[in-house]
Amino acid sequence: MKAIIFIVILAISWFWLYRGVNEFIKPLPKPEISNNTYWGPGKPVNYEAPTDIVPFKIKYDQTIIDDLRTQLNRTWKFTAPLENIKFEYGFNSEALKHIVDYWRDYYLLKWGAHEDYLNSLPHFKTEIQGLKIHFIHAKPSEEARKEKKVVPMLLLHGWPGSVREFYEFIKLLVEVSDVNDYVFEVIAPSLVGYGFSDAATRPGFDSLEMAVVMRNLMLRVGYDKFLVQGGDWGSIIGSAISTLFPENVLGFHSNMCVLNTPLATIKSYIASWMPERFIPARFFYNHHFPLKDKYKFLIVESGYFHIQATKPDTIGIALEASPIALAAYILEKFQLATGAGRNQEFNAMDRTYKLDAILDNLMIYYLTGTVTTAGRFYAENLASDSKALKMDRVPTTVPMGCARFQFDLPPAIDWALKDKFPNLVHSTYFNQGGHFAALELPGMLYINFQEFVKKAIAE
Ligand SMILES: *[C@@H]1O[C@H](CO)[C@@H](O)[C@H](O)[C@H]1NC(C)=O
Ligand SMILES: *[C@@H]1O[C@H](CO)[C@@H](O)[C@H](O)[C@H]1NC(C)=O
Repeated sequence: MKAIIFIVILAISWFWLYRGVNEFIKPLPKPEISNNTYWGPGKPVNYEAPTDIVPFKIKYDQTIIDDLRTQLNRTWKFTAPLENIKFEYGFNSEALKHIVDYWRDYYLLKWGAHEDYLNSLPHFKTEIQGLKIHFIHAKPSEEARKEKKVVPMLLLHGWPGSVREFYEFIKLLVEVSDVNDYVFEVIAPSLVGYGFSDAATRPGFDSLEMAVVMRNLMLRVGYDKFLVQGGDWGSIIGSAISTLFPENVLGFHSNMCVLNTPLATIKSYIASWMPERFIPARFFYNHHFPLKDKYKFLIVESGYFHIQATKPDTIGIALEASPIALAAYILEKFQLATGAGRNQEFNAMDRTYKLDAILDNLMIYYLTGTVTTAGRFYAENLASDSKALKMDRVPTTVPMGCARFQFDLPPAIDWALKDKFPNLVHSTYFNQGGHFAALELPGMLYINFQEFVKKAIAE
C-alpha cells in the first residue's frame, strides 16, 4: 500500500514538473496583431494614410551648423580620467576632447560635403499608420538588371545607429561584381522614432509594431516578397517580420543572431561543456564561451540598456541639452564595438570605421533631435505587456542566415537557433569584426549575404 501511494505521489510530481518545465520551453503560437494601428498624433476618425511617396533631401540651415560649432566651442570643464585609465570607466574625456575639436574645426567646416555624401543615395518619405517614414531606396542600374537577378530587400539598423551605417554596404548591393549572382533593390528605412522618421505618440510601440510598419512600408513601395537583413534592433525586428509575415519574407539574414529563451540558455550551458560537438572550429569557441565572461560582458556593458528600458526620458533630456554629452553617450558604443584589444585605443574608431562616418551618424541624432524617442524603444520592448518578450519562442520557417562576427554580443549556437528558425540555411563565423558589421566590414558582410541569398532563394 505504502509503495503504491509513493508511486502515485512520484508520478504526480513528475507530471507537475514536466508541465512546469514545458510551460517554459514549449514553442508558442504567433500572437495576433493588428496590421494597421494608427500611431500618429490625435485620434482621427476614418484615417486613411496618404499613399504618395515623396523624394526627400537632407538639408539643414547653415545657422544650425554655426550654432552647433558655437556650442562645441564653450569652455567645457571635463574631469580628467583616472591615472592609467582609458575607456574602462566610460568614454575617455581626453579622447573626447580631441574628437570635439575635430568635429568643430574640421568636420563641421565641411558639413556641405558630408551632407552631399548623405544625399548621394536617393531618399524618400511616405506616411504609414499616421507616421512619416523616411527611407533610402537604392536601385541597380539598367545594365545590372539585365545581367543579374534582381531581388528586393529591407535593410534594418538599430541603436545607436542609423541609415548611415549602410552606405558602403548599399553601394555594393546595387552593383554588379564577379562574386555576385544577385543585385538588390534596397529599402533602408530610419526606424520609427529614429533619424528622419516620425516617432510614435503613444506608449506600446515595440518591435512587433515596428515589424508591422516596416512590412507596410515594403508593401507601399510595391514589394510583397523581399529579403530582410539586420543587426542590433534590426535583427530583432527582422525576426519579428519573419515570424508575423512569413508569406512576405524570402529570407532573413542577421548579423546579431541572439535568442533569448530559457531553452536556448539551457542549450548553451550544455554546449559549454562540449563545445566541439556544437561549434564548427576551435577558434570560434570564444564567440560563445566562457559563459561567465559573456555574462560579465553583458552586465558591464548594458547600463545604458537598463536606463533606457526604465527612464528613457531622463537620459534623453541630458543628451539633448548637450551635444558633447550626446557624443560621449553614442560614441561609447562605437568605441566598444571596435573589439577587444582595440577598444582601449584613442584612434580605434577612426581605424575601424573612419571617424567621419561615426560623426555623420552622430549628426543624424543631433540634427533630428531623436535620441529620446529612439531610446524609448528599449522601454517599449521591455514593458511587461509587450508581446515582443516571447517572440523568440514562436518558430518561423522562413530561410534564415546568420553571420557571427567575433566581437559582437554572444550569439546563439545553431542547436538553439533552430528552435526558432528550423530552416537555418546558412550559419557562419568570422574571426574578426564587431557589432556594426555593415559599417566596419561591408565587403565581408556583402559576400556572406550573397552566399545566404543563393541558398535561401534556391529553396
Ligand atoms: C490586414 O488585416 C485585415 C484583417 O485581417 C486583412 O483583411 C487585410 O488584408 C490585411 N492587410 C494587409 C496589408 O495585410
Ligand atoms: C571659439 O572661441 C575662440 C575664443 O573665444 C574664438 O576665437 C573662436 O572664433 C571660436 N570659434 C568658434 C567656431 O566659435
